[in-house]
Formats: sequence, structure tokens, C-alpha cells
Amino acid sequence: MERELALEFVRVTEAAALATGRFMGRGDRIAADDAAVSAMRRAFDTVYIDGVVVIGEGEMDEAPMLYIGEKVGAGTPPQVDVAVDPLEGTNLVAKGLPNALSVLAVAPRNCLLHSPDIYMDKIAVGPKAAGHIDLDASVEENIRQVASALGKKTEDIVAILLDRPRHEHIIKELRHLGVRVKLISDGDVSAAIATAVEWAGVDILLGIGGAPEGVLAAAALKCLGGELQGRLLPDNEQDRNRIKEMGLKEPEQLLFMDDFVKGDDVIFAASGITDGDLLKGVRYAGNEASTHSVVMRSMTGTVRFVQATHRLDIKPHFVVARECAVAPEEPQE
Ligand code: FBP
Repeated sequence: MERELALEFVRVTEAAALATGRFMGRGDRIAADDAAVSAMRRAFDTVYIDGVVVIGEGEMDEAPMLYIGEKVGAGTPPQVDVAVDPLEGTNLVAKGLPNALSVLAVAPRNCLLHSPDIYMDKIAVGPKAAGHIDLDASVEENIRQVASALGKKTEDIVAILLDRPRHEHIIKELRHLGVRVKLISDGDVSAAIATAVEWAGVDILLGIGGAPEGVLAAAALKCLGGELQGRLLPDNEQDRNRIKEMGLKEPEQLLFMDDFVKGDDVIFAASGITDGDLLKGVRYAGNEASTHSVVMRSMTGTVRFVQATHRLDIKPHFVVARECAVAPEEPQE
């Protein structure tokens, strides 16, 4: 893929962030998601790719836009796989909490893992600890390996995981080992990336989250030199068959970096929606808005942060979501 595409993809995540940022704290995660999805869908029309959504908003019969199998882009070469999460952290935006992102990853056709929207067990680390994790090993073994790779004591390690009852046994074990624990309410894409970013102060991500989020996080970690291992968690035959249809022989096989992204040509882009560990959220001021984004290419390992100011009077399509922000909704759980 031409490197110029990187900036085009940032424009796509910026558009989604600008549309959904208006819904911060308004308690309406569905409206926030709709705004992000339609803005991202529209923005893709202007990008010169022949894209197919492989990670998206769900199956064709359940999502009106950005569904798995949908064609995106202007329809010209290159032929690419597209993974999107226009709003990663719907509750985070609805409640005005940190780390909501608009994210996408693009790789040549058939190079991204295709997955249904089910759960995935995950473990992720940054570059210094890459090669020292094993999803099938115990929590204690992984923590000891990562601590040794980072030259830290066990009690200096910070583990991040979603605050869910399903993770109680992991949290208990981490506390028993003396590990510092950061529990988050949502947003494990941002959490996985944080393991590879020096200033985020996080060493390892553990636990079960969305499979689409796992693919997106793996794409980012491929660019950053980190590692994510995962295992899809189908809970019925239908899911298992769908995974096989999508190309995996063994639905519950252990997935390594090359299973998530084949080859060395993936571009990952993200824009902040609410302020977070990696990116600032969207700011609006009259006719202007600003966004903060990151775009990375695995081929070169270049990581660019992009701070942009947008003129809403000149680009009125960015203002659309403002109309929706008038009537406050009851919070939805
Ligand atoms: P949404 O943006 O779809 O709400 O996902 C947020 C999220 O926290 C993801 O980051 C995470 O992978 C997943 O939900 C975890 O799912 P669950 O909330 O069911 O535990």
C-alpha cells in the first residue's frame, strides 16, 4: 500500500471522531455509535481503495453500514481488507469517560484475520516483552517472564484488564503476586496499545474482550513491535461454523501475530474521541474543532501523531451531529 494512504485513513477516523464527539456524556451510546458509523462510512467513499470490511459493525443482516463483507472506498486499486471500529467505547462516550477512540486498520486483501463479533481471550505486551508471553501459560508465569524481559520486579509491573466478573480469578492472582492492577470499564484496544507506549505506564493486557477489538489491537501492535496472542471463544456451533467459513480451520486455535495480520503491510489509524492515555479527545469551539490522531505503518514502523484543526463552516458535513445533540436522552445501560 502506498504510504500516502496513511493520511487518507486518518481523515476517516477524524471524521468519525468529529461526528461522535458531540455525544460525549449525553447518555446515548446508540446515537453516538450511529454518528460515528455514518461519518466513517461517508469518509471512506473519498479514499482510493477497493476495500472489503472484514472486521466491522456485525453481520450484513444486523448492521446497516460497515457490516462484514461490505465494500468500502472509491473502488480503485489497491484491493484491501478493512477492519473498523468507528466508536471503540460506546459507553465511554455516553458517560464522558476517557479513552474512547475511532479506529481502523487496513492491509492487502486476505491479510487481516476475519472474525465474527464474539469474545476473544487475549494477552498483549509492548516491544520489550514481545516473545515472552504465552496465552496458555499461567498468569504467574507470564508476569514473571514479562518482568524479567522488562528488567522490573513483579511488584513494578502494571497489568491492565477490563473490570468484569469473568476476570475475578485473574485479578485475584495478580494481587496475590503483588502486581499493580489497572481496571478499566471499557476500551481494550486503547489498553493493548498502551502496553507498547512508554508514557502510558502499562506493561501487560490480560483477559477477555471483543474479537474485533483484538484484531484491531494486533494491527496496532504489529506497527509498534509489540505482541498480542488471542483465542476466539465461540459459544455455539453457529459461531464455530462462521469462523471456519471465514478461513480458520480450528475455531479455537491459539492466534499469533501472523494470524492476525499476514505479511508486513498494515496501516493502523486512530483518533481520540474523549481524552485518553494515548490521544486527546475532540475539542469544539464555534466554527472550529480539533482532533488528535495517530497513524502507523508496519512496513516502516513510523508512528505519526496528527493534531488537526477543522473548519466546520467550510466542511459543513462535520456539523451534522450537532443537530442530534439537542435533546438529552436517558442514560442507557
Ligand atoms: P463497544 O465500543 O462496542 O461498546 O466495546 C467496548 C468494549 O469495552 C471493548 O473495548 C471490549 O473489547 C468489549 O467492549 C468487551 O465486551 P463486554 O463489555 O461485553 O465485556
